[in-house]
Amino acid sequence: MGTPGNSIIGAAVSRIDGPAKVSGKAQYALDHPLDNVAYGVGVASTVGNARIASIDTSTAERMPGVLAILHHGNTEPLFRPAEQLEHSRAGEIRPPFEDDQVYYYGQFVALVVANTFEQAKDAASRVQIHYDVSKPAVLLSDAPPPQGPPRIHYSRGDADQAFESAPVKIDETYVIPVETHNPMEMHATIAAWDRDKLTLYATTQGVVNYQKVLSEVLGTPLENVNVISPFCGSGFGGKLFPWPQSMLAALAAKRVHRPVAVQVPRSLMFTTVGHRPLTQQRMRLGATEDGKLVAIQHDVVQPTSMVDVYVEGCTGVTTMLYDCANLTANQQLVRLNIGTPTPMRGPGIVPGLFPLESAMDELAIQLKMDPIELRLKNYAEQDESYSPPRPWSSKHLRECYQTGVERFGWSKRNPQVGSMRSGNEILGWGMASSTWHAGRGSATVRVRLNADGTARASCATQDIGTGTYTIFAQVVSQKTGIPLDKIQVVLGDSSLPNGPTSGGSTTTATVLPAIARATEAAINSVLDAATRTPGSPFFAQEGATAPKLAMANGRVHIADQPPASGVPFEQILTTRRIAALDGEARTSPDPADEHKVSSHSFGAQFMEVAWDPGIARLRVTRALTVIDAGSIINKKAGTNQILGAVVMGIGMAMLEETIYDPRNAKPLNNNFADYLVATNADVPELECVFVEYPDYHLNEYGARGIGEIGLAGVAPALINAIHHATGVRVRRLPFRVEDVLGAEKATVI
Ligand code: MOS
Repeated sequence: MGTPGNSIIGAAVSRIDGPAKVSGKAQYALDHPLDNVAYGVGVASTVGNARIASIDTSTAERMPGVLAILHHGNTEPLFRPAEQLEHSRAGEIRPPFEDDQVYYYGQFVALVVANTFEQAKDAASRVQIHYDVSKPAVLLSDAPPPQGPPRIHYSRGDADQAFESAPVKIDETYVIPVETHNPMEMHATIAAWDRDKLTLYATTQGVVNYQKVLSEVLGTPLENVNVISPFCGSGFGGKLFPWPQSMLAALAAKRVHRPVAVQVPRSLMFTTVGHRPLTQQRMRLGATEDGKLVAIQHDVVQPTSMVDVYVEGCTGVTTMLYDCANLTANQQLVRLNIGTPTPMRGPGIVPGLFPLESAMDELAIQLKMDPIELRLKNYAEQDESYSPPRPWSSKHLRECYQTGVERFGWSKRNPQVGSMRSGNEILGWGMASSTWHAGRGSATVRVRLNADGTARASCATQDIGTGTYTIFAQVVSQKTGIPLDKIQVVLGDSSLPNGPTSGGSTTTATVLPAIARATEAAINSVLDAATRTPGSPFFAQEGATAPKLAMANGRVHIADQPPASGVPFEQILTTRRIAALDGEARTSPDPADEHKVSSHSFGAQFMEVAWDPGIARLRVTRALTVIDAGSIINKKAGTNQILGAVVMGIGMAMLEETIYDPRNAKPLNNNFADYLVATNADVPELECVFVEYPDYHLNEYGARGIGEIGLAGVAPALINAIHHATGVRVRRLPFRVEDVLGAEKATVI
């Protein structure tokens, strides 16, 4: 356990929820022990575009244990989410069973509820559905070309003209396929009604949003819906918003008058709970012969679903990362018969950086310039995406590059393709910049100081595996001096004081000030009680001046005397015969401040690959990430966030792709045997270095977010490294070994 006081902020603190997790006490969605739970198993469409002609449930209904079979023909339609309140967003705007249309393969078309999971699953396989099938649009080429004005358009200067006349040009198209979120814990909900009150045990990145959406789709007052999610087996964006299974669980529980559990099986994780959409991105760079960018043009085409407009904002990062006077960016959508896309770790920026940072490498090669030198030559001293440009709240990207150069040994890099060897292997070194915008929202936190010497902090945010529980305890401990093992943190319950969705790498920056203010309020209550309680050593008689008190090391003391001179805070409470004193605070960013500066985290990522042409094996052998994200509140959890993101980046670059059958839109690799994610064997030793400069723009702790930035530059850095080793430029992810077969002939040595 960490040392109380200021030193606990920034220390490497083990998660306070670690023991619960490793001992199996942590309750994930389906672990909640409810009595009399029934199980719902979804029947999913086996076609991508159809009208449901008939549903025959007669066989399934007679199967043992079956309680109900719900489908559009026997279920009142749910309401649509209002998407109006601050938080009120569902993964899919169309509630399940709204009509008889099938918009994508794997859409829920019925739900079988039975006494046991096995009975429900068995019966679900006997529901007969007949479809009037139409040809689905599955591939980008199946959709009519995008019509109308682009969904995103950005322009500064005259990029057409500047590109035209640029002496050095890159004009290439890059493709990132659909990637599927694959958290360990699959989406799952247990819904339990108690008369008109609904409790949902869920796995979610936002209990408050979940509560609002369920209240809206069910037409139930907000206060009658409670969402509980104390632990989340990761989300990666896929659990930001509630998906159809949560609504079906609520409907089914009402129908059968029992709690109903519905889990999304791994195969349907690929269809009905979002994904990172495919992006096809044309990137044009124009530069002078000495490497000054004069034009950037970024044009993106991206599919969304038939029912929702989801825009993966890839071009934003292009507009801010480099100094360039002439820039256009456009993003257009087409509609396909696949489920609705959703944010996936680093939405927009991660897919946007792949073409930008690949093209920068291609430009550096054409210019015979070091890729870092090219980036320094075009270093953005301010955020030019705004007009007029805004200063950065804090930017130390130059130092990230420099630190990376030193630690990676970049000066030893021979830029010649295939020139660096280690035994039978050819080494490739590549790098890329990374960034993520820093934001902060509103949060309310309650802190209670108890007469038994413990503290409790609560908030309706949640810990999705990132370390949020521990951050709460660290701040309470810093302010009070109460050790971490005497601080209880309660999150993941929508009935607690309103907290933020865990998304966009904003939770830490958002909750820090609220925890601090709430803790101070609780301390002030204790200090106040200390002067007003007869029997307290600090009791001030009516009319006498109360001494100025403070709290440190868990003790109340005279402000200008050492803590040891005071008494444990609980003594004040016990003397007063009260159980606890509370403090509560709501904090929000200052809207006046928001538009003055641009706040981003930055980083540089350096990767090494080893290519053995003799056995056609290409491995990732080194990965160094240098991050400028302001102050790091917990070094251990923070490092863990970056390294976990790097692992995802390795998956993105080298392994991950959801492959659809063009005939019926079925994801062919909808399982862990065929959809490959990076595992230990794919991942080398990873290194993460923080370049720490507190950024007080967002909060008094100087912290920005770190959940997503670690992924941002990994794929381009790896692809650049592969080029350096093999001379092959991969512009379509993921890398395949076929891409470099024969590359040994092209290498010069
Ligand atoms: Mo993140 S993709 O906002 O969970």
